[in-house]
Amino acid sequence: MAYTLTDTRRAEYRRTTQRSNERKRLAMVEGLIEPVHPVNVPRFNPNMLMPQLPANGLRALSMFSGGGGLDLGFERAGFAHAASYEILDICGETLLHNRPDWTVHAGEGGDVRNVDWGRYRGQVDLIHGGPPCQPFSVAGHQRGAEDKRNQWPSFIKAVLAIKPRVFVAENVPGLLNPKFKEFVRETIEAPLQGEYTLHRFIMRAEEFGVPQIRKRVFIVGFRNQRDHARFIPPDATHGTDSEDARPLMTVRQALGLPPIGHDGVAPTLRSGFTGPRSCTGVVNSKASMDVWGQLQVWPNGVQSDRLKASLFPPENGHFRMSVQDCALLQGFPVEWTFKGAVYQQLGQIGNSVCPPVAYQVAVSVLKSTQ
Ligand SMILES: C[S@@+](CC[C@H](N)C(=O)[O-])C[C@H]1O[C@@H](n2cnc3c(N)ncnc32)[C@H](O)[C@@H]1O
Repeated sequence: MAYTLTDTRRAEYRRTTQRSNERKRLAMVEGLIEPVHPVNVPRFNPNMLMPQLPANGLRALSMFSGGGGLDLGFERAGFAHAASYEILDICGETLLHNRPDWTVHAGEGGDVRNVDWGRYRGQVDLIHGGPPCQPFSVAGHQRGAEDKRNQWPSFIKAVLAIKPRVFVAENVPGLLNPKFKEFVRETIEAPLQGEYTLHRFIMRAEEFGVPQIRKRVFIVGFRNQRDHARFIPPDATHGTDSEDARPLMTVRQALGLPPIGHDGVAPTLRSGFTGPRSCTGVVNSKASMDVWGQLQVWPNGVQSDRLKASLFPPENGHFRMSVQDCALLQGFPVEWTFKGAVYQQLGQIGNSVCPPVAYQVAVSVLKSTQ
């Protein structure tokens, strides 16, 4: 739900921001505020959830690559990327910074609306991508097909031009809202009819070991019936009644914070690039603020690194997060770093598919093709 602020509430927020800026000045410039917490040493290593698999010989094309969540998950499952396409330059910088040997098309050249996909025919086995989800997100106005950010037609166009063996598309659960039934039929199912057979399923990040509530829908399309019949969507690995399931990974445990008698998974981190340009908070609803409060973690004024965060305690003494903490709560391993100002890094993190979730989908796809 979008925020609607009363004047009183807005004035209250303004005062909090002013006080916070003053505290930051005292802490950073004058060194007058004692750090309330030492620099934290995380205890969660997302790589344990996605052990590197050997190269499997399958070549992937990444569309709408963002900060690389899907790309990283597929890479760890042994897929090689032929190329990645992303309209934002800063995301391209992130991808190339982490993987200098990748072929990354960013900016104008990364705009999927301008690409002649024919050249990839026979060159890639799989296309993956998360077409922008704001048109369907409950946080937006749900205008679906009428929203000019709706990029599903570009994704389907690429699939039909390249005809890969498999495609994997990710989106917000809002896409499955009855309101968009017609949209899904006309824009996704009808053009693919006779060409691809689809599986649709929802994954919850917390059930795959990520310390965050995050629900996403996946549509996986297969060109041949055998692969389709063999495909089994990933089974939850954490927090279910199954004997093999492991306990949920929780926020304080993941970030390496001292016990306070309470711990739990984080609320969904805000999907980035949608708020004010300089927004350095990850709160996505009023309700989630209470959950952060119970965790004694402060989700606003995220800092560029852990040292800065420790030097600038919020008024209530809760733990202030850094970009690295948010990336970890999204399931990015420590060595994957983001380029840009804090709000741009948070934008890439909040927009991404949690890599361990992407990994599980990639592994399921891989098994279906073997
Ligand atoms: C939901 S995010 C994708 C996140 C990514 N799959 C990940 O896991 O990190 C959607 C991305 O599509 C990009 N995008 C939007 N319109 C685009 C276009 N016309 N061409 C290429 N990328 C576009 C946005 O900049 C954004 O980074």
